[in-house]
Amino acid sequence: MSSRTARRAGGGAQLVAAIVLVASVVGAQSQTIEEKASSCGACHGEAGIPQDKTKPMIWGQQEGYLYLQLRDFKRGTRKNDEMSPIAAALEREDMLALAAYFAQKPWPSLEQARAPAEVAKRALVAIGSVGCTGCHLGEFQGDGSVPRLAGQSREYLAKTIADFRTRERGNNPGMSDLMNATSEDDLAAIVEYLAGR
Ligand code: HEC
Ligand code: HEC
Repeated sequence: MSSRTARRAGGGAQLVAAIVLVASVVGAQSQTIEEKASSCGACHGEAGIPQDKTKPMIWGQQEGYLYLQLRDFKRGTRKNDEMSPIAAALEREDMLALAAYFAQKPWPSLEQARAPAEVAKRALVAIGSVGCTGCHLGEFQGDGSVPRLAGQSREYLAKTIADFRTRERGNNPGMSDLMNATSEDDLAAIVEYLAGR
């Protein structure tokens, strides 16, 4: 085999590996929803707690919101190197079924510390002036297409708020506007407050 052929063969093997990965994530039509969902655990946690805290918890999240995020990753209005290729390979029916599957799971507790009193006070003033609870509801449990924020991973909340601000996360320009209208110090306090709820 010439070195050129060998290189091509190597590339082929990589391609096959990539296809096998996508296939194992998305699965054959014959796979049950449990089988399809089990591949999500590699990043979102086998028991709903992601090992990498910059990744969101999806167990117990609002069903409508989960579906819309999968749709947006597939459409490309929300982009992420890890998540986009997975969503790209999902059909609408899979997205709806996966959203329903994860929404009915219990929301796990990360046991993040409550925000200290003065941080919570600052957060509540900012939350009150922006009116976050008008959409995310009183206990930040969310509803329908509005996500639950209470108890979400601190690192993920900070990352996604920063992504809204830079519009790296471009799937909801209204949220980006709100995040840019709020100071970074207030947002840092809000993240501490939400994580500890
Ligand atoms: C290789 C790792 C990986 C795998 C496997 C994976 N995800 Fe993700 N997922 C991510 C990352 C990273 C993010 C956050 C992206 C960002 O920061 O914008 C994410 C975000 C999401 C979100 C948005 C949550 C929110 O709060 O906004 C949903 C919904 C989601 N994933 C569902 C799934 C489903 C369903 C599967 C299985 C079919 C899956 N993911 C498999 C890495 C992964
Ligand atoms: C007008 C309604 C509204 C208001 C007010 C609002 N939000 Fe949101 N928020 C939403 C919606 C809808 C989404 C889902 C966006 C999407 O589809 O990606 C969202 C998403 C988010 C997310 C991403 C959650 C995740 O899992 O990725 C965070 C964090 C967030 N909001 C924080 C806040 C904070 C903090 C405030 C107040 C400073 C606030 N929001 C005010 C409607 C609102």
